[in-house]
Amino acid sequence: MMIQKIRGTRDILEMKIINKIINATKKVLHSHCFNEITLPILESADLFKKTLGETTDVISKELFLVKNTHEENDQICLRPEATASTFRSYILNKPIQNPWKVFTYGPMFRYERPQKGRYREFYQLNIELINAKSCLYDIELISVLNKIFKNELKINDFQLEINYLGESHDRKAYKEILKEFIFSSANVPEKIVDLASKNILRIFDLKEEECKKFLSCAPLLTDYLSTESLENWNTIKNMLDILNISYTSNPKLVRGLDYYNNTIFEFTSSHLGSQNAFCGGGRYDDIGYNMGINEKIHSLGAAIGIDRIALILEQINPAELITNKKYGFLVLNEEYNIEALNLISELRNYLPIELYADKNSLKNGLKKADSEKTAGVFILGDNEYKENKLMYKNMNSGEQNLISFSEINAFAKSLL
Ligand code: HAM
Repeated sequence: MMIQKIRGTRDILEMKIINKIINATKKVLHSHCFNEITLPILESADLFKKTLGETTDVISKELFLVKNTHEENDQICLRPEATASTFRSYILNKPIQNPWKVFTYGPMFRYERPQKGRYREFYQLNIELINAKSCLYDIELISVLNKIFKNELKINDFQLEINYLGESHDRKAYKEILKEFIFSSANVPEKIVDLASKNILRIFDLKEEECKKFLSCAPLLTDYLSTESLENWNTIKNMLDILNISYTSNPKLVRGLDYYNNTIFEFTSSHLGSQNAFCGGGRYDDIGYNMGINEKIHSLGAAIGIDRIALILEQINPAELITNKKYGFLVLNEEYNIEALNLISELRNYLPIELYADKNSLKNGLKKADSEKTAGVFILGDNEYKENKLMYKNMNSGEQNLISFSEINAFAKSLL
């Protein structure tokens, strides 16, 4: 039986949209002085267990562990995300640049139930600012993302939801209040009771109607922030208002990973169905403590879900993404192969040229060019060759031109 691909993985046979996303993102990030880095796909499983939280789905259910026969003590996994790895890299490499503003992209792995927009191997472009304390960096990060999505990728109908988780003492006090609310209420949904003792903030991510209904009058963290946290939260919202960045403040927004504090956010799109977040991130000032670093290293970042953005772009702008402007070159007689190769090589200095060498008749060649939506075809047949000329047929208008070999460069330039 033919060997199948692994469930939740994909063969990506067209990289045009993905490259467009990556290039647009890189362009904006470089203009904000972010550096590109590359990190390993294999990491110690402990790195994620210590930072993402043992009770999160990513750690408790979705980690891809790799059989490690060489270094028995170290459990290795395929990285499920890149924030913990970037922070690890900062600690080990001690870069001079501070804040360390970096990005990386590549595959991440989570053993999730595959569906539209959710894969076991998926692609993220991950952006981090490590050792960045000022809340101006929160604004810098959100505005850079906003710029990528709105100005570069022309996604106009997305939503930005933000929330503020406060410092650990804010959350500690609030969790008690929330517990009190849950355990003093009647008819508490089972899932809420279950999570209340494991990871109480995650109750706000439960999708069941009865849970949502129960939580409709739950106390909200942003109502219980310390004065300092509240000021910071208000400053961030004010700055977003001043910059005209639209957002919804969602006090029930929580993230699936445990390392966050203060600002968190998600960009969502109605083009995506149930997996509607195409970017998520926030601050993780305390992550170092979980890795045994005895100091607070203020940091923040976000990951862009490349696959989900590709799904959005396919829907909002299919024509622009699918049309691939290219030209054809049709050789109608093998005797002219050498001449044809020289001419193609000149044309390719200016235009993307597809060679149609196996189409031995003009009719077949043009049919093929038409089926591939070629913008125009250069034809080298007997009559043309005798006159040291090439025929050019514009496939949209049907117009034909005879071009001397000596004018080929100028003609190619005129098509740009
Ligand atoms: P995350 O919310 O787990 O955050 O993932 C970020 C984005 O990756 C999601 O919004 C989604 O677009 C995409 N994504 C996640 N899982 C899948 C999947 N199974 N299939 C397809 N796309 C997926 C993080 O990973 C954090 N490390 C973000 C961050 C960076 N926080 C601070 N710095």
